[in-house]
Amino acid sequence: MTTAYDVLHPDIVSVLDGLDASTREVKEGARVLPAAAYGSPVFHDFEKRAVWQRSWLCVGRVQQVPTPGTFLAVTILDEPLLIVRGDDMGIRAMSALCRHRGHALRENCSGETRRFVCPYHHWSYTLTGDLVGAPRMEDAVEIKRLREESQLPLIRTEIWHGFIFINFDSEAKPLAPSLVKLEPYLAGYDLDTMVTIPPTFGPDVPWNWKLLLENYIEPYHTEYVHPGIHDFAPSTGVEFDGWNGDEDNVIVRYVPFLEPDGGLTERGWAAPASFPPIETLSPKQRHRVGFGMLPPSMNIIFTPDMLCYGLIYPTGPKSLTVGGGLFTRGGWCMPKSTVDLPDFEDRVARMMEGSRQLGEQDTSVNIAMQQAKSSAFAPRGRLAPLEETLAQFNRWLAARYRAEADRMIDMAAQRVAAE
Ligand code: FES
Ligand SMILES: [Fe+2]
Repeated sequence: MTTAYDVLHPDIVSVLDGLDASTREVKEGARVLPAAAYGSPVFHDFEKRAVWQRSWLCVGRVQQVPTPGTFLAVTILDEPLLIVRGDDMGIRAMSALCRHRGHALRENCSGETRRFVCPYHHWSYTLTGDLVGAPRMEDAVEIKRLREESQLPLIRTEIWHGFIFINFDSEAKPLAPSLVKLEPYLAGYDLDTMVTIPPTFGPDVPWNWKLLLENYIEPYHTEYVHPGIHDFAPSTGVEFDGWNGDEDNVIVRYVPFLEPDGGLTERGWAAPASFPPIETLSPKQRHRVGFGMLPPSMNIIFTPDMLCYGLIYPTGPKSLTVGGGLFTRGGWCMPKSTVDLPDFEDRVARMMEGSRQLGEQDTSVNIAMQQAKSSAFAPRGRLAPLEETLAQFNRWLAARYRAEADRMIDMAAQRVAAE
């Protein structure tokens, strides 16, 4: 019989072997994931297949491609992609690599066009990814045949509350049913009428993508790492939503504020928030901050004055790029009346000052966590009750790691049987 030990690299096996301890209930001693999950290049490749190539990944909001011909060019996991609004108003995602020799048609930009023209030899494509021009190719091949074989590969998309998600796996289950846990958080925000200010992406930061989300989603550290500036949202009041099994794509906690209508300010979390409260939110929503994550690529912060989202894309085993989500400017959905305020930029500056302070403190712990993973003494410590969300994240990951390992073992067994 073919086993994990026959086919998988020792780094992958070391993580798989540790999953039982990481996926327990916290009160039964759930532990941190094995260190190889946070830095091994082999494990990173495994994780790309297990997680990133099979999960719904957020690439932006529909407001970023409002009219026919508007597009976004994003690169996720070394895959340049185009997200394009067509003449039929449909939003399509496609590989941005020209079908000739593979130059990217556009990269990391946004704009408006009627044709995507390859910079290399000027092959050109429509908004739906059809080849329409290929200079001096008539003598080589019938143009009809060239068109048929040169369509830009389409990638599955789903729109959820105006967020555009893609999935490299054409067989993946629909996204929306896996996000129902967030519906009560979204009530009252009226995302369709809100203005989107897209995230700006910062330079790569030097730690594994999971460390960023782990630090984001656990409230255990806030009073120690952010003394003073987080006291308004104390971890003593945290509530966790339950985990609904492997198909649940939401991990979320919320923290009551000491007073209503708080938010992020130049003094950290405080009241009043930097922006006016959203009147359509319930009293409960105006008295708390909700920290949600939609693994692997996104976080959403629900505050009384705005909805703030962040996009997280790994660029290597120990690096990632982040846009928005309080990590960089943007990733904001706000009422138009807020964006139209004459002192809007002053208010933004206040909020970004608080964000900067929190970010610097979190950066230092993220770097320390990455450093620990290379040590011969890297701990697999016991999670605290306030780290319930980390045990949930471990379960979400473990289901995907195990499924990928099973697929690899099956493939190896089939190869052996065929020999
Ligand atoms: S690579 Fe695009 S036209 Fe040659
Ligand atoms: Fe923090």
